[in-house]
Amino acid sequence: MQRPNYPSGKDLLSADAISRFDLDDIFERAERHLREEEQEKAGILPEQPPVYRRRPKVIATLFDQRSTRTRLGFQSAAARLGHQSIDAYDTDRSRLGTSTGESIEDHVHTVELYSDLLVVRSHLEDMPYRVSRLSYLPVINAGNGADEHPSQALIDLFAIRQMRGEIEKLTIALSSDTRARFAISFVKMLRLTPPKRFTLCCLPDVPINPAMREAMTVLAGLGTEIGIVHDVRQTLGHDILSIQMQDMSKFAHASLGNEAVDKEKETEPFTITAQKILEARSDTLILNPLPRFSELDTSCDSLPNAGYFRQVQLSVPMRMAILERMLLGIPWTGQAAAASGSPAAP
Ligand code: CP
Repeated sequence: MQRPNYPSGKDLLSADAISRFDLDDIFERAERHLREEEQEKAGILPEQPPVYRRRPKVIATLFDQRSTRTRLGFQSAAARLGHQSIDAYDTDRSRLGTSTGESIEDHVHTVELYSDLLVVRSHLEDMPYRVSRLSYLPVINAGNGADEHPSQALIDLFAIRQMRGEIEKLTIALSSDTRARFAISFVKMLRLTPPKRFTLCCLPDVPINPAMREAMTVLAGLGTEIGIVHDVRQTLGHDILSIQMQDMSKFAHASLGNEAVDKEKETEPFTITAQKILEARSDTLILNPLPRFSELDTSCDSLPNAGYFRQVQLSVPMRMAILERMLLGIPWTGQAAAASGSPAAP
């Protein structure tokens, strides 16, 4: 896929857009939003009143794929910041698409006149990049085909920090199809804060996606101990296990550009259950970007290991931090912002 230049660092299209400096800044902002939310819930007014804005900003979500968390999460974050959101890419109701013939160019040029920031999810890998080239507004890639899901990776790292502390001191396992967009962004983002150990749990007979392999090579170069296993039981000594389905093509999963249908059950070595956790006497924190399928059994939900709904909760301050930063026009300063064209290793 052809990737655009990032002349201004205005967009969050890939984990490559983010530098360590940006990561520290976004964590600090998210922690402040979390603290303020907790203070408000406890009936304590924030130490500093919110900055008054001249008028609320408008966040436009342009999604041609289904979404619960990302769409509602950004809309909720916008509302909590005092902003508003509009659904701008509803193919049933808008004039975009072949039935009426309005082009993506005209659609984007219209929507950008109603909005201040665009959040794009598409089954087409190049769609957020096209929108980025077409629009002067900041653009967030909220998942593009089988490419990336960078805001999900920021949420995952923030959740790990909040629930288990400094990432550099942790051992982290990922059980997933190595082509999954959340997984690629997750491992790329780990390069900014390399864990002590990283273990990939994957199918033995399927080649590892080159983007995943490259990110793991960089991690190894940064001093992370790298392992590859083929049974989720072998990850239960880690501090963290982020789990999703293997072989997503079998499930026609959204992360590969299609809608998810869970017609086939995940195979036993890649399914996490309460029984496996209890047998291993494991205190591994289980994360999952959700929606879950048969890889994460509901028997896990009542265990202290279950971190996935807290992960959803923590996504709100992180999305607030992302919107705040981008609406202030603060550029991302990662490798992609400095380089022209192809994604670069850190
Ligand atoms: N995690 C995630 O991207 O969920 P949705 O598909 O519901 O947005």
